[in-house]
Amino acid sequence: MTTEKWSSYVARQRVVLAPSLLASDFANLEREVRRLEEGGAEVLHVDVMDGLFVPNISVGIPVVASLRKITRLTLDVHLMIVDPGRYVEAFRKAGADVISFHIEAESNPRPLLKRIKDLGALAGLALNCGVPVDRVKPYVNDADILLVMSVPAGFGGQTFHYEALESVRALRSLAPDDAVIEIDGGIDENTIGAAAIAGANLLVAGTGVFKASDYGDQMTKLRERALSALRDCGE
Ligand code: DX5
Ligand code: ZN
Repeated sequence: MTTEKWSSYVARQRVVLAPSLLASDFANLEREVRRLEEGGAEVLHVDVMDGLFVPNISVGIPVVASLRKITRLTLDVHLMIVDPGRYVEAFRKAGADVISFHIEAESNPRPLLKRIKDLGALAGLALNCGVPVDRVKPYVNDADILLVMSVPAGFGGQTFHYEALESVRALRSLAPDDAVIEIDGGIDENTIGAAAIAGANLLVAGTGVFKASDYGDQMTKLRERALSALRDCGE
């Protein structure tokens, strides 16, 4: 997967879902991955939390390595950790295809974005909910992916913050045409349309997918909602 190819694939699709494994049954992770694969998932979003950058602790390098052994889906690793630069090589070696870190964790993100790209991964810069979008604006041409949190980072199942759409809109108007803009948090059938209209094209959904008994049906429903919202507003 080259950067150009993947970004333009996402741009062409207009709506790509990234189910977040945080909401999956960790005791049956392989079964969950198979159910997502059979349901048509293309990307798996993996939330890494260290209990310092965010209050919660989730999974780390060994889990990414185990996932890599059982799937060819794009592994989208979202680092919610302090000092992310200490770990990017290890996550890449474990098999991460996308590595995103937070601007609040790295005030000088340019060298780290470059290091991630040099490792052959896509480099994502994330902005927590409520952090001014100006913080990431200088780097829109350095990152492959701009990740806007639509809930405070740390937990699944929170309510969508509509003010995040303002950041998505601002970044969409500034970023290069084929930039991937990812939105993460509270995406479900009620919010996905607004997120797509604002300009997000990689949409993370944890609870919004895993609450359903049939993940494939639910992913199709979410994608259709987003595409029909785009059609309704003439895009
Ligand atoms: C939260 C994580 C999200 C989370 C989203 O900090 O970054 O990826 O899994 O979960 P939902 O979709 O349930 O809000
Ligand atoms: Zn996430």
